[in-house]
Amino acid sequence: MITVPDIIIAVDGWSSTGKSTFAKLVAKHFAFLYLDSGAMYRGVTLLALEKGIAGPSGIDEPALKAALDAGFDLHFERPEDGSTQLFSGDRNIEKEIRTMEVSSLVSPVSAVPFVRSWVDERLHAFSINGRVIMDGRDIGTTVFPAAELKIFMTASDEVRARRRFDELQAKGTPATMEEVMANLKERDYIDSHRETSPLRRADDAFELDNSDMNLHEELVWIQGLMQGKFGILG
Ligand code: DC
Repeated sequence: MITVPDIIIAVDGWSSTGKSTFAKLVAKHFAFLYLDSGAMYRGVTLLALEKGIAGPSGIDEPALKAALDAGFDLHFERPEDGSTQLFSGDRNIEKEIRTMEVSSLVSPVSAVPFVRSWVDERLHAFSINGRVIMDGRDIGTTVFPAAELKIFMTASDEVRARRRFDELQAKGTPATMEEVMANLKERDYIDSHRETSPLRRADDAFELDNSDMNLHEELVWIQGLMQGKFGILG
C-alpha cells in the first residue's frame, strides 16, 4: 500500500494579501485540503454580533466565553465543487462573515485569548491527517509551528486595499476605498500588536511579496518549492 505522508502548509500574512486565493489555488493544483482559519474567527464574530454580545461599543467577554463554552456550532463543509464553506448548523454563512460589519469587529474578537484557544482546537481537529493548506495570521508560529512548509505573504498597502475593494464591489457589498484602507490598517495594527500569538513572520517562512505578481506567477513560485522540498511535481 502506498502511504501518503501528512503535509501541512501554513500560509500567513497581512490582510488582503491574497492568502486565501493563493491557498485555494495550491489546494486545487496539488490536491490538498484548504482550510481558512480567518473564516472561523469571522464566524465567531458574526454569531457574537447576532447574539448582541459583541458590537461597535465593545465585547462582553464573560457572555462570549459562556456562549463558546455552551457550544457555537461552527464547522466546515465541502460541497461537490471542492470548495470549503463555513456553516453554522445548516446555515451557510460564507457570505455573511465577509461584510464590513464583521470585518471591523473581527480583529478585537480574535485578540481575546479564549477565542484563540477555542478556534485553535477546531483547526487541529479539522487537520488531523492528510495534506492540508491553511491560511491565517499565526498558523506557522502557533497553530502548526512544525508545519512542513511555511509561507508569509505581503503586498503593498495600495495593492491590498484595491484587491479588497474590488472583492467587495463584486459581491455588491457597499464600502468606500477610504473605509477599506482604514479597516486594513486597523486590522494590521491589532493583529500584529495583540498579546496572544500576534501576526509575525515565522523565522523559517518563505516570503512571498505578490504586489507585482499574477496568480500564474504565484503558482510557478510554489511549484519550485513543492518540487524542491517534497519532490511533488504539479
Ligand atoms: O484572513 P481574514 O482577513 O479573513 O481574517 C480575519 C481576521 O481574523 C484577521 O483580521 C485576524 C483574525 N485571524 C487571526 O487572528 N488569526 C488567524 N490565524 C486568522 C485570522
